[in-house]
Amino acid sequence: MRTMRTMRTLLCLCLCVSAAWAQGNLDYDEYDTVREKGVVVNARGHRPVTRGGDTYTRQRYAPPPISGGGRYRGRPTPAPVGGQQQQEKEKQPEGGGCTHAAEEMGVLCPTGCELKTMLLKQERNSINELKPQVDDLARSSNTIYDYVNSISSSLRERQRVFTDNNRVVSQFTDSVEDQHDYIKKTVDTVFPSSIRVLQGVLDRIRVKIQKLEKAIQGQREECKEPCKTTCPIPVVSGKECEDIFRRGGKDSQMYFIQPDAFLPPYKVFCDQTTQNGGWVVLQNRLDGSVDFGRRWDEYRRGFGNTAFDVGKGHCETPGEHWLGNDRMSQLTKMGPTEVLIEMEDWTGAKVFAQYRQFTVMAETANYLLAVNGYSGNAGNCLLDGSSELFGENRTMTIHNSMMFSTYDRDNDNWIPGDPSKQCAREDGGGWWYNRCHSANPNGRYYIGGAYTRHMAKHGTDDGLVWMNWKGSWYSLKAMSMKIRPYIAPNPHA
Ligand SMILES: *[C@@H]1O[C@H](CO)[C@@H](O)[C@H](O)[C@H]1NC(C)=O
Repeated sequence: MRTMRTMRTLLCLCLCVSAAWAQGNLDYDEYDTVREKGVVVNARGHRPVTRGGDTYTRQRYAPPPISGGGRYRGRPTPAPVGGQQQQEKEKQPEGGGCTHAAEEMGVLCPTGCELKTMLLKQERNSINELKPQVDDLARSSNTIYDYVNSISSSLRERQRVFTDNNRVVSQFTDSVEDQHDYIKKTVDTVFPSSIRVLQGVLDRIRVKIQKLEKAIQGQREECKEPCKTTCPIPVVSGKECEDIFRRGGKDSQMYFIQPDAFLPPYKVFCDQTTQNGGWVVLQNRLDGSVDFGRRWDEYRRGFGNTAFDVGKGHCETPGEHWLGNDRMSQLTKMGPTEVLIEMEDWTGAKVFAQYRQFTVMAETANYLLAVNGYSGNAGNCLLDGSSELFGENRTMTIHNSMMFSTYDRDNDNWIPGDPSKQCAREDGGGWWYNRCHSANPNGRYYIGGAYTRHMAKHGTDDGLVWMNWKGSWYSLKAMSMKIRPYIAPNPHA
């Protein structure tokens, strides 16, 4: 009797477990939802002072940005609208090699192999994690099925024995039969259907894995070669995009620039349209395809996809990327530089913040940021901090005169030296964090805009945030940062 009850319980348990499996949709993303429990985080841009010796110290002396009239006079002639294209496009050999005509300029790879590499890595990992689980599941469901079958047959055997001695055990038989009926019914109806559901789940997962493996194989083939698409780089080159514009490069696309004759040229995206052009794109977010949670070295060198060819024969669409702190510093130290930060929400509304002066110091100064001269309609996050906070809490969100921090290099203003108090660890990307931010353009990409602290990895506002426009819990759809030499307005104009 006791065994019967135990078996009944066991059976129920099995069924419940398999039902739960059947419900779970097992998306790969769900394997990444580890969250610290019970940790209270004050997440709204700043980390307020807590009791017990924790004080907030403002940054020490920081030099102001480079200011002055600038390297350039106003452009001699205004760009004619729809003017003649003077630039030539250089066709690449064999309809699509990726090497620039001048070999020392290196290899162009605008097609997003980086994205593919990342995907490849991720999918590989999740499949490897998933495979043993699928196998386990298959094995255990078979074992349970066999077990129940053997119970069933041993019951039949016992029933036969009981029938032979039916006088002795007559009062037991009824209950045994009841139990048997129950189990038999369960085995014949509920259990097989659960197994079927389970099998369906397994099959779906298998198909999914197969598809992914095929896709990965395809990607691997494609990425074996640096890249195959044609994406000719214009012959016209210059110190930076303003220089290129003046030399006739008036299309927005990828160009080579060489700010310093002693350093090799490198590719950048030039925006030659916005506010009369001349902009080097420093940073660009538009679809979440590139991971911005990166190390110091990667932020120093730059990462992501500078530009794509979407079928027009040249690289006219900027990809998600970070130009690199060394280059940024070098470009902004050539003279007075202005920065334009543009952003777009998920309804298509657009605003911008512009700073007439923008300097990034060298790595020896941890790429200290100096800005000044705000204009725009997005709100002055970099100089004023978050307008929804007050006093010290607001001061904590000012980015001007902050050093750059990444999750592996803590230069922020939040209890220096305490590895558990690192803005870059919690807020998703490298940035000039204070304690911590009012603007977080390198944060995590959230599709749709509104997000909550439960969706955030550390419960903090780690999205693409510009607090003075949309607050902490709205992650923007697109964001970009561009610089160009500052040109003092013509007093006679
Ligand atoms: C700063 O923030 C903390 C916690 O959010 C709050 O208790 C404090 O009153 C704030 N201070 C000011 C000046 O608003």
